[in-house]
Amino acid sequence: MPKKELREFTKKDRRDFGNDPFDIGDAAPDPIDQFARWYEQAIESELPDPYAFTLATAAANGSPSVRTLYMRDFTKDGITFFTNYNSTKGQHLTENSKCAANFLWLELNRQVRVEGRAEKISPEESDAYFASRPRESQIGAWASDQSSTAADSEVLSRRIASFTEKYKGIDVPRPPHWGGYIIIPSEIEFWQGRPSRLHDRICYRRVGTDRSWEKFRRFP
Ligand SMILES: Cc1cc2nc3c(=O)[nH]c(=O)nc-3n(C[C@H](O)[C@H](O)[C@H](O)COP(=O)(O)O)c2cc1C
Repeated sequence: MPKKELREFTKKDRRDFGNDPFDIGDAAPDPIDQFARWYEQAIESELPDPYAFTLATAAANGSPSVRTLYMRDFTKDGITFFTNYNSTKGQHLTENSKCAANFLWLELNRQVRVEGRAEKISPEESDAYFASRPRESQIGAWASDQSSTAADSEVLSRRIASFTEKYKGIDVPRPPHWGGYIIIPSEIEFWQGRPSRLHDRICYRRVGTDRSWEKFRRFP
């Protein structure tokens, strides 16, 4: 522990979790079906941004990076999000497609951890989603050179003005450097907080030649 803390952590900063057990028998045979159940409950509970998750990536040299993103779709194939392909995360995923995602639904004492790899979705799918976005966001995708250094805050405003002018009166096309990724899971863990840190962790991993899902429990 550092000698002088900026803020003292006390018993008040500790809490116990609720007592809703999550048994392996209650977990769906397919983890995406299970994810759908918990996601639906997160929506019903009116949690803020239940589709927000953190995504960890790593460069080829192993340097990790983590950031929050919005899930925009999930299917039996995986979890989709949209971003700038030239961003730090985009560069990482080009060098090293392995990644990990975490959904935290704290009010429900739950987290869902996903490990797998990310692939770009098809240009047609990215086009379809891009076309559904508000015009300001479409212009923003052209104007923001995401993750690169900006000299000052004016640069972005100037670029927004310039692309607004460029696409005046016409549909904004999707920038080639902007689109979706799908995270294809190889392992998914459902974590239910329990009293005294004796949490339930029900996990799934792909096994065998048919790559079917195996379900198992982990120690908390
Ligand atoms: C709640 C929330 C949702 C976000 N959703 C996205 C998103 O869907 N796509 C995206 O590119 N960035 C999103 N961001 C911004 C990212 O966290 C991050 O700053 C950005 O993608 C650049 O990350 P990178 O430099 O690691 O590539 C979101 C941030 C927050 C706080």
